[in-house]
Amino acid sequence: MKRIAVLASGRGSNFQAVIDAIADGRIPAVCCGLVTDNPSAYAVTRAEKAGIPVFIVDFTTFPSKDAYEQALLRVLNDLSADLYILAGYMRIVGPNIVHRLKGKMINIHPALLPSFPGLHAQRQALAYGVKVSGCTVHFVDEGMDSGPIIVQASVPVMEGDDEESLAGRILAEEHRCLPAAICLFCEGRLEIRDRRVSVLPEPGDRSRTGRKIP
Ligand code: GAR
Repeated sequence: MKRIAVLASGRGSNFQAVIDAIADGRIPAVCCGLVTDNPSAYAVTRAEKAGIPVFIVDFTTFPSKDAYEQALLRVLNDLSADLYILAGYMRIVGPNIVHRLKGKMINIHPALLPSFPGLHAQRQALAYGVKVSGCTVHFVDEGMDSGPIIVQASVPVMEGDDEESLAGRILAEEHRCLPAAICLFCEGRLEIRDRRVSVLPEPGDRSRTGRKIP
């Protein structure tokens, strides 16, 4: 069984999707911890309900971003997870942590990257006037939402959508894509070459073409 750890800053509905997928056997892993920068995040309540250890690294109690990141890295190292998942973790992860956890950290973003990286992705998509948006699960690299892409799913942008309605439609896809990507990682089926991620076939499946992902 792989060990996975989740970093979340708020509501934690993606974290819940991961908890549920582990519980019903869709992800072959144990969740060894929730790490949060925000002690009042609802994700903490979700972890407690699921019996998952909580590690609070409260950003506001550190004198600098550097000091915060050092404490965060200690917690992440102590967890010895195979995979670290940014699920609504609303801070930029510093280069030191990214470098040390290269290939072992993934993020979910509410847009079809490389369009609309950063904050308020749904607002950016509406302002631009795109007709299709969606979500992306990707490995974390030193850039802003720029790492190798694992899974994407699209949703239509409807006439009359506002940020909330579009975010809700995207969120439903996030809850499907994030567990799917984690499952592929835990099964050892992701291969990163340069910035492209290949999904290896399931053991026993000889065909490498025409596969539906996820
Ligand atoms: C999700 O939509 C996630 O994609 C987004 O925050 C939301 C968290 O919701 N993350 C980002 O925008 C990161 N740049 P949740 O707390 O209910 O999972």
